Amino acid sequence: MEKIVVNLSGNSYDIHIGKGILVNIDDFIEPNNEQNFLISDENVYELYGHYFENLKGYEKIIVKPGEQSKSLETVSHILGQMLGLKGSRKSKVIAFGGGVVGDLGGFCSSIYMRGIEYIQIPTTILAQVDSSIGGKTGVNFQNHKNTVGTFHQPSKVIVDIDLLQSLDRRQILNGLGEIIKYGIIYDYEFFKYVKENIEGIGKSNSKVMSSVIKRCCEIKSEIVSKDEKEQNLRKILNFGHTFGHGLESITNFLKYNHGEAVIIGMYYETLLAKRLGAIDSEYFQEIMDFLNSLRVDLNVEDYPAANLIDIMANDKKNHDGKISFILPTERGKVEEYLLHKSQVKW
Ligand code: GLY
Repeated sequence: MEKIVVNLSGNSYDIHIGKGILVNIDDFIEPNNEQNFLISDENVYELYGHYFENLKGYEKIIVKPGEQSKSLETVSHILGQMLGLKGSRKSKVIAFGGGVVGDLGGFCSSIYMRGIEYIQIPTTILAQVDSSIGGKTGVNFQNHKNTVGTFHQPSKVIVDIDLLQSLDRRQILNGLGEIIKYGIIYDYEFFKYVKENIEGIGKSNSKVMSSVIKRCCEIKSEIVSKDEKEQNLRKILNFGHTFGHGLESITNFLKYNHGEAVIIGMYYETLLAKRLGAIDSEYFQEIMDFLNSLRVDLNVEDYPAANLIDIMANDKKNHDGKISFILPTERGKVEEYLLHKSQVKW
């Protein structure tokens, strides 16, 4: 088992990464005498709920799977259950699922009785490499992605690579968006490793997945340790996301999963970097060729550019009336560009 520390002043925590480690879930959860909660979704719980059968003191709160559950209505439902079941300030929450469950579980934990402890046990690649780490929690609001939320760090993250065996192609793509992103924003050698091992990732090969997940968790934890609240460095994690969130939003979160939207977002943001003269032709071509090879439909002609740009103009990362884009500049490096609507073309 590997351990990676997210180093923060006052609230550091460990990411435990291993194969088959959920079999011994008791080893990770300190017992208490409170009413605790396991938040999960119907699909995950049906497949993997058995890991928690013998865990004492945890009441299950199971939500519907999918992005539509990331809403204030679901938050209200979860908080109602926690209160009804007499959860206290000392209760703990386990968020057991993908990005949606992690964001919901984290958000409910951050506001219930002004904040209680929670543990992230991510079950998808996307959640294992990104959303379970770093304490961003929240829900979508009025069709805007992650508009209502908090920073609330988990007390630990438990990553069991065995859970990835059951993922289908779309779920793998969902994680792949963030995996490729880490290479482009931070570590060119890792980008090359991902390109060379794309087949192994597609087949969830355990050896490849172990090293990919470990490297992504290291990168994420290094970035979050340096900038917990996204004042500067952490912004680089938003590469592909300004465009990607626009696309998710314009399609009511129904057409693309997050990773697919990020892959398409990275494609158009790299085009934007080229238009602005921010990236050399060879590296530009390398990124484009790789994104093109993933068999994701990159065509966005169905969505009027002006509407997409209007959505991006509402993104919470913007300031001074300009849209924030993180664009690739050099191998393993990105920079923030603040652009007026009229400068956004692809
Ligand atoms: N998923 C981006 C971040 O955690 O900052």
